[in-house]
Amino acid sequence: MKTQTLFKKILTIRSDFPIFTHAVHKNRLLCYLDNAATTHKPQSVIDGMVHFYSQDNATVGRAIYTSGERATSLYEAARETVQHFIGAQNASEIVFTRGATEGINAIAHAWAAHCLHAGDEIVLTELEHHANLLPWQRVSQQTGAVIKFIPIHADGSLDYTDLDTIITHKTKLVATTHVSNALGTTVDIDRIITRARHVGARILIDASQSAPHQRINVTTLDPDFLVFSGHKMLGPTGIGVLYVKKSVHHELVPYQCGGGMVFNATWQTASWLKMPHLLEAGTPAIAQAIGLASAISYLEQIDFKELAIHEAALCSRLIDGLLKLLPIRILGPIAQLRTQGHLVSFVVNGLHAHDVAAYLDHKGICVRAGHHCAQPLAQTLGIEASVRVSFYLYNTQQEVDFLLETLTQIISHLPDMK
Ligand code: ALA
Repeated sequence: MKTQTLFKKILTIRSDFPIFTHAVHKNRLLCYLDNAATTHKPQSVIDGMVHFYSQDNATVGRAIYTSGERATSLYEAARETVQHFIGAQNASEIVFTRGATEGINAIAHAWAAHCLHAGDEIVLTELEHHANLLPWQRVSQQTGAVIKFIPIHADGSLDYTDLDTIITHKTKLVATTHVSNALGTTVDIDRIITRARHVGARILIDASQSAPHQRINVTTLDPDFLVFSGHKMLGPTGIGVLYVKKSVHHELVPYQCGGGMVFNATWQTASWLKMPHLLEAGTPAIAQAIGLASAISYLEQIDFKELAIHEAALCSRLIDGLLKLLPIRILGPIAQLRTQGHLVSFVVNGLHAHDVAAYLDHKGICVRAGHHCAQPLAQTLGIEASVRVSFYLYNTQQEVDFLLETLTQIISHLPDMK
């Protein structure tokens, strides 16, 4: 009964997204299952940005005129919306970035490049995608810091057995995903943070795949840095969030210099504004920040516990169906995906993931295929590519069933694997 009520709500939710209405009008099937890559936008987010450009457009932080002050108020109000959404203590802890990738790179340049030294250690997990690996490889080359990895089990869950020997007093930074974009694995973030705190290491959490799906509270979690992207949670592209705990602000240096972050400049030197402006050089993405605030307002009306139940139910339904299709191998920890997942990745033996995705596209189904920007993880799993199905609040059981029917058709064409 509870699930039925939830599904009724989801059909109402779909009507808030013009892309679905448009598809119906055009008689075009849109079975959108690539939400881990990017999500669709409700009308309120689109309206929020159109309203800004139509009625309030001006620069922020430097205009003396009234409309500039209004734009500044809207931009700073968006910052406060983010602050409250993630339970941060101060608005100065919220930096607007282009996305999670820029947030991680910002910390690599503004903190790690000068705070880490030869012999220090950076601990990552084997689940990381490129955005939380490549910046640290560069930091390692620059500073001599050594990168270590928390390994995964064959099912894609994290192996915590040697946590205490991997995270040691040499560890200066632990940078981990919260939920894997490639496998859907949820990392036991509390366990990692507890160990990292014990040895005095700084902690960075990539919450790109968790912030859209569960309530994140940075005060309870207590990371030093946390990043996520707006476009994966109903907001526009080009906007993301970097949270930096206030007690770490004194360790930061600017990673980009220019207007908007200067306190005083001469021909020879300059001094900087405090956070968050220290890390926001240049004219920021004002309309996008306002769009993100609209997305958060939309999400504030969603019961995240119900959302998690809904997404896990879709994963479970999909897994049940996939398990009946013999040539398919599911990647990722199945039991966990059934209870707290929002995405499922798999390979079809005998078919490249790109071919599967192309066939699905032909039927109006959008999934991601490839290594999901996590090439080393794919290598560890011994695969080249996988098909990833990722859900969000507007997806339905019917879409899962349609996907399964279409996959069954694909497999029926495989000569030796029926
Ligand atoms: N945006 C990338 C994804 O689709 C990382 O998972």
